[in-house]
Amino acid sequence: MINNPVFGPLLAEGKTKQIYAYPDDDSLAYMVNKDQITAGDGARRNELVGKSRWSTITTANIFRFLNEENIATHLVEQINDVTLLVYRCKMLPIEQVMRRIATGSYLKRHPEVSEGTRFDPVLVETFLKDDARHDPQIWQEDIVQMGLATPQEIEWMAGQGRRVFKTLERAWASADVTLVDLKIEFGRDTNDHLLVADVIDNDSWRLWPGGDKTRMLDKQVYRNLKEVTPQDLESIADRYALVADLTGKLLPR
Ligand SMILES: Nc1ncnc2c1ncn2[C@@H]1O[C@H](COP(=O)(O)OP(=O)(O)OP(=O)(O)O)[C@@H](O)[C@H]1O
Ligand SMILES: [Mg+2]
Repeated sequence: MINNPVFGPLLAEGKTKQIYAYPDDDSLAYMVNKDQITAGDGARRNELVGKSRWSTITTANIFRFLNEENIATHLVEQINDVTLLVYRCKMLPIEQVMRRIATGSYLKRHPEVSEGTRFDPVLVETFLKDDARHDPQIWQEDIVQMGLATPQEIEWMAGQGRRVFKTLERAWASADVTLVDLKIEFGRDTNDHLLVADVIDNDSWRLWPGGDKTRMLDKQVYRNLKEVTPQDLESIADRYALVADLTGKLLPR
């Protein structure tokens, strides 16, 4: 690991990470994670010391694993505790969600469906990234009309999302953890190839050890809090650390 990379200009900054240009090679970029946890489209936010490191470890482990399974991600390599070297992408302003088990926002949109209903095949949904409009759901026609992707690319991304989900579902099952659902983002690299980009970290999924919702390990614990106390943040930090550690031990197949 290189400890002090030389950054080019800041290209993008959001709630949880910064993207810096890579000097001398426009096809690459540095992704630097922050110690920030947020929910409700940024309405709730807290500093969570250590989160940048756990997020970096988790994303690096998961993307390395996917790359080995021939699912192309933007990960090149981990640089230090909080920094990944990635392929520089033009990001699609959409979030693709894969669901195995009905819970959360799905139930609000489909009140006729009861919690725990199993989707087989895995359900794929798409949302427009627009915090002000609370990330509305969109459909293939909308994506095409906005000029974001072709129908063929949209089909391909849905298939790729299912592959990502099933690969990680199997891996988590080896640790007796149920992968309930998962959010990913795609970007186009400088050769116009679609890659799984951004992060897959403990903010990206629901993880239920032994299939038991009450034992959840992911960011939902933070979303569910009425108010955030320092003790809450400590127990959330413990979960992020545990998940980062477990992702280093997941087995293929
Ligand atoms: N490989 C990449 N190349 C270029 N930009 C990237 C890459 N991966 C992620 N990004 C971008 O990094 C930026 C910062 O991410 P962050 O998640 O902090 O934003 P955010 O505040 O959550 O906003 P958003 O709702 O867009 O995710 C985002 O604009 C994201 O699209
Ligand atoms: Mg984001």
